[in-house]
Amino acid sequence: MNTEHQKKIAAEKATETVQSGMILGLGTGSTVYYALLKLGAMVRDGLDVVGIPTSEGTEQIALEQKIPLTTLAMHPTIDLTIDGADEVDAHLNLIKGGGAALVREKIIANASKKILIVVDESKVSRVLGTNFPLPVEIVRFGWEATQTEVNRICGKSTLRVASTQDGKQNPLITDNGNYILDCHFEGIPAPAAVESQLNNIPGVVENGIFVNRADKVIIGTPAGLRYME
Ligand code: A5P
Repeated sequence: MNTEHQKKIAAEKATETVQSGMILGLGTGSTVYYALLKLGAMVRDGLDVVGIPTSEGTEQIALEQKIPLTTLAMHPTIDLTIDGADEVDAHLNLIKGGGAALVREKIIANASKKILIVVDESKVSRVLGTNFPLPVEIVRFGWEATQTEVNRICGKSTLRVASTQDGKQNPLITDNGNYILDCHFEGIPAPAAVESQLNNIPGVVENGIFVNRADKVIIGTPAGLRYME
């Protein structure tokens, strides 16, 4: 079973928890994409839900799928969020932000009564930060100074870039108008401490460590589904 199929079965399994009347948090990424397709089909079959997207990309997909959308201003409490992750440890701590949506994802997570994380097997890790660099969103003003402070914690970071249509590399700008630093830790054994140390640096908007947020992780594996909760 290839990785795409692992993503699909995990994401579609998560949609089985969705019930009419729910306010849904709609995550971002290539795994959640399959959940959005499934939710679109369920809505067309009569499911009555409203979603709050975690990124402009997800908003676009939800609109294409005709999933009704709302805002946190209208619905400050979310019943269920389905989101992906870049790395998951055995305590259900996560690294998120590979798709640059970590700020909105954490705001949505904070407003959610229940969070299901959907991943393929490659995302499971013994110690966070060993398989995936930690994304940290920073404001553009004085970003070099912010990076110096971030590097005191992680050792080394790189400014994330995006390719333009004519092949140039420019700094990636998030949906919130900021930059992303990808921080190369040699493991994050104490994620809660690192999460707050990073967020204490002036210029840091948010980082991709999610501690005690996920209720359940649904993992697509070559042998089928596996769960952590
Ligand atoms: C978006 O910023 C991320 O947090 C995604 O949820 C995460 O990167 C997982 O994405 P994939 O499902 O594409 O791996």
